[in-house]
Amino acid sequence: MNNNALLKIARDFGSPVYVYNSETIVSQYKRLTSAFNKVKKIKINYAVKALSNISVLKLLGTLGSCLDTVSIQEVKLGLEAGFTPDKIIYTPNGVSIEEIEKVAALGTQINIDNLVILEQFGAKHPEIPVCIRINPHVMAGGNTNISVGHIDSKFGISIHQIPHILRIVKNTGMTINGIHMHTGSDILDVEVFLYASEILFETARNFKDLEFIDFGSGFKVPYKKGDIETNVEEFGEKLSKRFNEFCKEYGRELTLAFEPGKFLVSEAGEFLVQVNAVKQTTSTVFAQVDSGFNHLIRPMLYGSQHEIRNISNPKGKERFYSVVGYICETDTFANNRRITEISEGDILAFKNAGAYCFSMASNYNSRYRPAEVLWYNNKAHLIRKRETFDDIIKNQIELTF
Ligand SMILES: Cc1ncc(COP(=O)(O)O)c(C=O)c1O
Repeated sequence: MNNNALLKIARDFGSPVYVYNSETIVSQYKRLTSAFNKVKKIKINYAVKALSNISVLKLLGTLGSCLDTVSIQEVKLGLEAGFTPDKIIYTPNGVSIEEIEKVAALGTQINIDNLVILEQFGAKHPEIPVCIRINPHVMAGGNTNISVGHIDSKFGISIHQIPHILRIVKNTGMTINGIHMHTGSDILDVEVFLYASEILFETARNFKDLEFIDFGSGFKVPYKKGDIETNVEEFGEKLSKRFNEFCKEYGRELTLAFEPGKFLVSEAGEFLVQVNAVKQTTSTVFAQVDSGFNHLIRPMLYGSQHEIRNISNPKGKERFYSVVGYICETDTFANNRRITEISEGDILAFKNAGAYCFSMASNYNSRYRPAEVLWYNNKAHLIRKRETFDDIIKNQIELTF
């Protein structure tokens, strides 16, 4: 999308606003599936948590995508978007057995990552096949908060507990139809991923009724020029070969599943904000914008660096700015970034704003969550209205004193 189209969206829908380019989502989806075109059965379960707008889910549905969900609410969103229950996998962590049973009753594939829950579920519903989430004890992921496959992590059932799993399966008579791992987001090294995959294959040999192996996600996308990104094509080539060999050895054509979030939607998103003030201090020039970590928390939470462009003055002289929000505590989007000269009223565009941006937004400081726009067929479509004051008060119960 060019700057003029983005500026028009900011004018027509106001700021701040999230804009998602459907063409990027489609091309990323196709890139991933074609990297694995040597595998007979491949399933992409889009991780709904990354960006859960129903129109985005529907768009992915038209491509043949299935969904990965972590809550009953995400499952319901998927159903609302037209996905049938068999196209949804539910991978909860630390949720109640009641919620898991409710999701199972909808006909969704359940993925269990806890021995106690596995035993309870298997004892009550031996007829429902389940997938198990393994913790391969591999340290992967770009940040400690998103590294989830290591030994201290709360996720998955340890590979050292396979004998316990087998005992539960035998005692309850339940069927394990899939095994899964997700070692973390932003894996820097494909070899680490391949190493963890070998552990998953090793684990798979213990289960005779598998239909699929889910390798989770972890595809790293670039945030700025020169950033490391997962070489999906090389990875596809290597893993496909190993997967096909494994299927031969296993004696059945299994489905290879992934559950990418970032890879599909991160680069599709731009977040547009307006500059309220330019403030020069003795050491820094701040560009203060009409947003904050209430709308985009990733820089403060994960230290992520979203590239920022001044689309109102793209050819101006470059200067150094710290881009900050309007929240009542430090909410820095970028420190001493080189950006073309900024004036009050300019529109700044943040890149990589598709994944974990709107979906992590809040009403902190009683601000409204932004609107969302999908660029589809060369046209901007509003897919979520900006909140209003009614949204802030609608669930509050006012007492009279
Ligand atoms: C179980 C699971 N699957 C998939 C994902 C998606 O990861 P990413 O957005 O890095 O592709 C996550 C992210 O937290 C996850 O926890």
